[in-house]
Amino acid sequence: MKLQLAIATLLIGAGTLCAEDAAALYKTKCFGCHGATGAGKPALAGSNLLTPEAKKLTDAEMKAAIAEGGKKAKAAHAFAKKGVTAAQVDSLLAYVRGLQKK
Ligand code: HEC
Repeated sequence: MKLQLAIATLLIGAGTLCAEDAAALYKTKCFGCHGATGAGKPALAGSNLLTPEAKKLTDAEMKAAIAEGGKKAKAAHAFAKKGVTAAQVDSLLAYVRGLQKK
């Protein structure tokens, strides 16, 4: 029983840590161009992540766009080259999907 409780606490703890990690990452690396809500900056074409087009991107397309820059955001993105790990890209993807659902 105690062990199960410990495992549950650990899992909840890890989940919270990930969510916080993604929020902090987003704030330092994405916020400047995509804004707190993902709605982007009016002056920055395409930076609105809440458009129907952006919502239609598959997870793979979105991860590639973040990690490598994809077809469109090469200069702004390519975060894999800037030391963002695959696991961090995964949590950023989840974070952006969360913004898109709001
Ligand atoms: C220097 C500004 C800048 C930063 C920083 C930035 N982006 Fe972007 N991002 C853009 C622009 C501009 C576009 C739109 C490109 C286009 O469609 O023309 C874009 C597009 C996107 C797209 C849609 C890609 C597509 O194929 O349409 C996603 C998803 C995205 N950004 C996620 C992120 C995440 C996550 C971060 C942080 C890790 C981030 N961006 C940081 C400028 C930025």
